[in-house]
Amino acid sequence: MLRLDVISVQPAMFRGFLEESIVARAVAKGLCEVNIVNLRDFAHDVHRKVDDKPYGGGPGMLMMCGPWFEAVEARAGAKPYPAGTRVVMTSPAGRRFDQRMAEELSAEGHVVFMCGHYEGFDARIESLATDLVSLGDFVMTGGELAAAAMVDATVRLLPGALGGGPAAAASESFAHGGGLEAPQYTHPAEFRGMKVPEVLLSGDHAKIEAWRRREALRLTEKERPDLVR
Ligand SMILES: C[S@@+](CC[C@H](N)C(=O)[O-])C[C@H]1O[C@@H](n2cnc3c(N)ncnc32)[C@H](O)[C@@H]1O
Repeated sequence: MLRLDVISVQPAMFRGFLEESIVARAVAKGLCEVNIVNLRDFAHDVHRKVDDKPYGGGPGMLMMCGPWFEAVEARAGAKPYPAGTRVVMTSPAGRRFDQRMAEELSAEGHVVFMCGHYEGFDARIESLATDLVSLGDFVMTGGELAAAAMVDATVRLLPGALGGGPAAAASESFAHGGGLEAPQYTHPAEFRGMKVPEVLLSGDHAKIEAWRRREALRLTEKERPDLVR
């Protein structure tokens, strides 16, 4: 069973996400375990302080080494980590998160997510991470939304997590290094003059498959030509 630990100074941010999502269902089905860990539990002063001013000056506060080293070691053990363990530091400087990485993480045994806050981490904390991962070229206030996105994309790939079975994830955009999924339609067959393509109503599964493959390629070339180059 995949174990996911998320270390954060804002554990309450995960409450709704963990109670109302596919992730909640996957936990209830015993497919994975998700633990939200409060970084402040590893602070040692009365104010449960986890940040301090940067050396050399500059705006804002940085997360301190002590609480992070203790928290990660409490969850993952000391380095070298056991096989199947990934420690993911959320950072705008990291590798861009994508479906391939979600596939990688869903095949691991234990993933620890490190959510930064304030101006970010003391640079020495990075030595704890096996991966530095970004959600994209923008800066968020904290790593919580990045970790939540990564947990969601990872957990929905676990066998049994999606209602539609393994095929549900395998046919989706980006699956196994692929392009975009073909457009999909549901009832009614005509809405405000816009018709569902005839072939989808034909019941001819071979023709439907061929149409989906063609449309997936057409859409990928139009919207994401970088994926077909
Ligand atoms: C305000 S940001 C720190 C930004 C940092 N000072 C910089 O300029 O690169 C605080 C934390 O939010 C998280 N974060 C912000 N943007 C992110 C992104 N695009 N992807 C992943 N995590 C991000 C990281 O954990 C980061 O340490």
